[in-house]
Amino acid sequence: MSGLFLKACFGEAVERTPVWLMRQAGRYMAEYREVREAHGFLTICRTPELAARVTLQPIDRLDVDAAILFSDIMVPLPAMGCEVEFNPGPSLARPVRDRDAIRSLETPDPAADLGFVLDAIRILREELAGRVPLIGFGGAPFTLAAYMVEGQGSKTYPALRSMIYGDPPAARELLLRLVETQQAFLGAQIEAGAQAIQIFDSWGGILPRQLFEDWVIEPVARLVEGIRRPGVPVIYYCRDCSHVLDLVAETGADVISVDEKLPLNRAAELIGPGPALQGNLDPMALLGGRDVISTGIEQVLEGAPVGRGHVFNLGHGVLPETPVEDAAFLVDEVRRLSGADWGRG
Ligand code: CP3
Repeated sequence: MSGLFLKACFGEAVERTPVWLMRQAGRYMAEYREVREAHGFLTICRTPELAARVTLQPIDRLDVDAAILFSDIMVPLPAMGCEVEFNPGPSLARPVRDRDAIRSLETPDPAADLGFVLDAIRILREELAGRVPLIGFGGAPFTLAAYMVEGQGSKTYPALRSMIYGDPPAARELLLRLVETQQAFLGAQIEAGAQAIQIFDSWGGILPRQLFEDWVIEPVARLVEGIRRPGVPVIYYCRDCSHVLDLVAETGADVISVDEKLPLNRAAELIGPGPALQGNLDPMALLGGRDVISTGIEQVLEGAPVGRGHVFNLGHGVLPETPVEDAAFLVDEVRRLSGADWGRG
């Protein structure tokens, strides 16, 4: 069982399509809401036993083929000197707006400053005991920079984008600091026991193609280079990247995780040969009832290129409104429908 996900990430043949869901632990689960009523979100992230407990909730409830560490892409920011609050989205008391602010950022020491994440990973490897592999994760440099400069979520991130035009050396320095931080942090996650790493780039796709290669891909490629370890696949999730999908293989990631905007075969053509694919059911389909879910799964599986590694996932995270029984149904249904197709190619 445990081998399926890692094999598919490396493009090896598997008897059915492995499945897990981005944001598989979260508010749509009563078990999570119960922990959340007693503890703040950051407290859960910073308490290894609580983070481990919440990580395991979807393993037990949904029977997915991989666990993803419960944490957040913003977790390393306080260790860089940027305090973050969540309500529920992240916000920074002091956004990083200029050169002085960038210069005064600290470079975290993962063991000393982010040891709670590494401890959660160690606990989880022991508790999972090989049942399913454990995915560690972090934010891509551009996406983290977008939040740091803006100070909060946005649809367009004007603060970072105007810095890229107005003071490119400052923006470059910020991205380099984030590459360094994430290399150390994600590398330490692997050393602690993470068996795959997903890099979340939720916002890189807002850039026009002319800026995407320099400001999104190049830093991710450096990051991937720095965390490459034998047998540990790196997954690059890029949202809203249909206009630049022909560039994402340059990250060097083993798996490209795509959103729901294009069918997988079309995405695969643009990405070109090489990386395996992850995705890409529309998260909204989980709100449409079981017939919609089954049809959606069939379409994703039919679009998945034969002979190429495929990990089933959503195009983005599970929505808080999702009925948990339907998320469990999705996992069972992927298993049933993809197993039936075994040998088709
Ligand atoms: O996938 C998992 O189950 C692991 C947990 C996980 C969380 N955030 C927990 C979370 C992961 C992988 C993330 C990644 C993350 N965080 C991303 C990249 C993926 C994406 O969604 O685009 C981003 C951009 C963030 C930043 C962030 N954190 C936002 C925008 C929000 C608020 C949005 C929301 O869902 O309300 C958070 C808070 C957050 N992160 C919650 C959870 C479960 C909700 C917090 C709560 O319980 O109050």
